[in-house]
Amino acid sequence: MNWRFLLGLVGALGLAAVTVLAATAPRRLPPGALDGFESDPARGRQVFLAGGCASCHTAPDATRATRLVLAGGRGFKSPFGTFYAPNISNDADAGIGGWSADDLANALLRGTSPEGAHYYPAFPYTSYRLADPADIVALRAYLATLPGDPTPSRAHDVAFPFNMRAGLGLWKALFLRADWVVRDLPDARAERGRYLVEALGHCGECHTPRGALGNLDLTRWLGGAANPVGAGRIPNITPARLSWSDDDLLGYFTTGFTPDYDTVGGAMAEVVENLALLPEEDLRAIIAYLRAVPPVK
Ligand code: HEC
Ligand code: HEC
Repeated sequence: MNWRFLLGLVGALGLAAVTVLAATAPRRLPPGALDGFESDPARGRQVFLAGGCASCHTAPDATRATRLVLAGGRGFKSPFGTFYAPNISNDADAGIGGWSADDLANALLRGTSPEGAHYYPAFPYTSYRLADPADIVALRAYLATLPGDPTPSRAHDVAFPFNMRAGLGLWKALFLRADWVVRDLPDARAERGRYLVEALGHCGECHTPRGALGNLDLTRWLGGAANPVGAGRIPNITPARLSWSDDDLLGYFTTGFTPDYDTVGGAMAEVVENLALLPEEDLRAIIAYLRAVPPVK
């Protein structure tokens, strides 16, 4: 190997890196993507509940009374380090009080920050990206009705090379879902359920196993997964394992009781707190969808 060859190799690698970075640079929604949608806080509250935003963005010591103070600070351990949910309260400096609907939509639908950086997929925009832009405009209006909190967001504890946000573009190019996982559904109710499960409810982020790069294994969609925080497994909720009746499921989603009078535990407890506040029609839609998912043994 002579120095000319080495120089050529370094140059080629540099060029390849620049090309990949350019091809995977953060994207924003096209201008006007949100035009004509109504700022409807009541609808936004439903989106907030179905999306489970409070489950991650309340403070670690939040109580029932401070459930809507989205001060952030909860840590999420992963094989790549610990991510901390930021302050998304209505504070203009510490939170997102100064954000437009467009800023929020770019975060949730594109995983892109107002400064034009990629977000980590610990923030489940990986699911929210399939949300209806009208729902995001409504959500923006609802978040503006919540209190502000001055607590600064905590920096993530993630080591090199995972602390380089530019590299996330490649992850996004490889793994972001552009479409629904379950394409064939029997009716409009199951399709509504798909929207609530695959997009807003981000149920697959917990109930689907992950590959080495933190990507969801879509061939085992909702087939159960290792629990990232502690012992036990997150259950398989495909028809192969879910033997509960529709009423059992409705009872679980509204009261947290299983058919054998056990109570919901772990991360699902907070999911149920939100689901319990959704209209029964939506819960029935989720159940219809779960019945139509391909069984995973
Ligand atoms: C599983 C936990 C989790 C859930 C659920 C979640 N988030 Fe987040 N969110 C995060 C994490 C972690 C980040 C930090 C991402 C990063 O820094 O790249 C984040 C970042 C954000 C940001 C960017 C804030 C900033 O300062 O740049 C916004 C806005 C946001 N989330 C809004 C929401 C909304 C709205 C919902 C509900 C629809 C939601 N999040 C649900 C974990 C979550
Ligand atoms: C943050 C992670 C997380 C999310 C998001 C999540 N789940 Fe769960 N889910 C769990 C865990 C953990 C359990 C086990 C609860 C227990 O041990 O009591 C569970 C249990 C369940 C069960 C009971 C299954 C059984 O056999 O015991 C159902 C049904 C269920 N989830 C449906 C859903 C649906 C529908 C969604 C989306 C709206 C969802 N989950 C979102 C973590 C999650």
